[in-house]
Amino acid sequence: MKRSLPELSHPQQPLVMVTAYDFPGARQAQAAGVDLILVGDSLGNVVLGYDSTAPVTLGDIIHHARAVRRGAPDTFLVVDLPFGTYHTGVTDAMRHAVRVVQETGADALKMEGATPEVLDVVRVLTRNGIPVMGHVGLMPQTATAQGGLRVQGKDDESARRTLEGALALQEAGAFAVVLEAIPARLARLITERLDVATIGIGAGVHCDGQVLVYHDLLGLYEGDEKKIAKRYAELGRQAREALQTYAAEVRAREFPTKDQSFVMKDEVLDKLY
Ligand code: KIV
Repeated sequence: MKRSLPELSHPQQPLVMVTAYDFPGARQAQAAGVDLILVGDSLGNVVLGYDSTAPVTLGDIIHHARAVRRGAPDTFLVVDLPFGTYHTGVTDAMRHAVRVVQETGADALKMEGATPEVLDVVRVLTRNGIPVMGHVGLMPQTATAQGGLRVQGKDDESARRTLEGALALQEAGAFAVVLEAIPARLARLITERLDVATIGIGAGVHCDGQVLVYHDLLGLYEGDEKKIAKRYAELGRQAREALQTYAAEVRAREFPTKDQSFVMKDEVLDKLY
């Protein structure tokens, strides 16, 4: 079992993180040797069909994270705390965090933002032995308040807020910080200023690690190209073509063939006539 915290203080080799939401995805990620798996609340968009992450519940994330843990028992597992589960005070946040850790076997939790309220939660969780990964830049849970799903840190105010947020998260005890959709040069500066690792998504090559959403990197949604995600496969197209071939073969009675059928002795069948 290699579930110790990966080398997080500016590792020599960039850390590889990928999201997973179910047993097969987690098995594939572990077999591929990724360093960290994230059960992201992108679950809401890519698996549950919502148009934002906000509707994802604690129950949803726990249900999926349990399956991920079964598929990847030996990989460091980070689980997102969903929107609303750490916004009503540290006592509620701690209760929800303990539930996620106890019920899923998560090694760490991730939460978005660096407001004073979120920093209080990070302090309480980390002091009580729950490792926390922070997340600044574009924060999908509160994207509406950020003016939509758009790149952050491009103007003075936003760049400073992002840098200061990352530093404050480290100060509060976060063991790593996700930088989402910010200019590469800002991500580089933040990475230089922090002692803990930065993990980028749409934040350039100078972060200490990279994370991608499983469905994006495998191209599971045809036509859904995102600037921040490289598609390493086109599994959506392959899946659709396979399903179309299956449908055509069933309709033409070309499937199943003898290979997928069972045989019986003539005398057994004859007795039924
Ligand atoms: O929910 C998620 O998948 C995330 C990653 C994009 C970092 O937060």
